[in-house]
Amino acid sequence: MQPPHLLLFLFLPILLPGMWADPEAEPQVIQYLLTGLFANISSAEVSCVGLMGDIPILTVHPANWSTHFHWPWVSQAAAEGDAEKIMSQYKIALRNIVRFVHDTVQQTRQHYPLVVQFRAGCLLYPNTTSQGFLNFGWGGRDLVDFEVDKQYWEARQPSQVAELVSKSLNEKKSVRVLLEHFLSIWICQSHFLTLKRYGRATLERQELPVATVFARTPSLDQLLLVCHVTGFYPRPISVAWLRDGLEVPPGPALHTSPILPNADLTYQLRSVLAVAPRDGHSYVCRVRHQSLGTLSLLIPWENRSAAPTVSITIVALLLLATASAGGFWWWKHR
Ligand SMILES: *[C@@H]1O[C@H](CO)[C@@H](O)[C@H](O)[C@H]1NC(C)=O
Ligand SMILES: *[C@@H]1O[C@H](CO)[C@@H](O)[C@H](O)[C@H]1NC(C)=O
Ligand SMILES: *[C@@H]1O[C@H](CO)[C@@H](O)[C@H](O)[C@H]1NC(C)=O
Repeated sequence: MQPPHLLLFLFLPILLPGMWADPEAEPQVIQYLLTGLFANISSAEVSCVGLMGDIPILTVHPANWSTHFHWPWVSQAAAEGDAEKIMSQYKIALRNIVRFVHDTVQQTRQHYPLVVQFRAGCLLYPNTTSQGFLNFGWGGRDLVDFEVDKQYWEARQPSQVAELVSKSLNEKKSVRVLLEHFLSIWICQSHFLTLKRYGRATLERQELPVATVFARTPSLDQLLLVCHVTGFYPRPISVAWLRDGLEVPPGPALHTSPILPNADLTYQLRSVLAVAPRDGHSYVCRVRHQSLGTLSLLIPWENRSAAPTVSITIVALLLLATASAGGFWWWKHR
């Protein structure tokens, strides 16, 4: 343990303001994904999931088309306003979709088995504008999209199926008007806001990242420093290596894994830095995340007896983070 270094790590969090990707800058998404497997002319297996960002909100069972709500607040939201009316109608819509797909297969002499996909929902931007969307995929490719502003179906591929489908869907003016209202007024405004209101605790949940630093020695002349970060929510995070206090820029020595989901709706990733053993530099893994506020988690790699130092530093940082947050709160509300 090196006391001067430890002290420096304790004060760095205050000096380094948070710069993780601001989740407010990303649009929020609500979407319903429908997949239909058509094995032959007399069969259709339809399943549907609803997602709010990365949080599943409901599932429609393929066997009996009954709805399963993943959270109590989703069923509360589904009982309010027009949602109840829409919930009582969705099986009719599913039956119409199944009939439409079978009819299209007949008319264009397509072959079974066939998979179709629908994706409907809304993007809510930070500037409070929103954009409804509805896409229809056929055999794994985009077929037609509904242009909400124009109330018009556009073909997404130069094929007979896309032409026929967009033509026959565009003939139904009343359905186009209904779809526009459904997407831009109902989903984008009332449904989105109701879900956000009832589901605040789930949707705004924050989980602190837990970070550990360790080393691997694949060969005598190379050391891989691994910073493993897990248990955090929401997904946006920034993980960087500092060499003597300066951020290591992207390059062949630095490899950061994709962000992977854990089973408990948190995420993990690892950042690996290749260095020469005993190169005389100090290395620190820096983690920034919404749950840490403006502070950073700094985990030094210690060449000797790493484990106790790491955990002590993390505990110290978290204590400091809590104390600073309390102080800031006191200062603001005084
Ligand atoms: C149609 O497909 C379903 C599901 O795979 C199967 O159970 C059924 O026997 C098939 N029917 C015909 C007429 O091939
Ligand atoms: C529908 O099917 C699912 C899965 O097979 C089952 O768990 C559920 O109880 C069924 N619901 C109804 C209302 O029959
Ligand atoms: C809001 O943001 C979106 C996406 O960045 C953009 O397309 C749209 O034009 C913006 N609207 C206004 C009114 O600024």
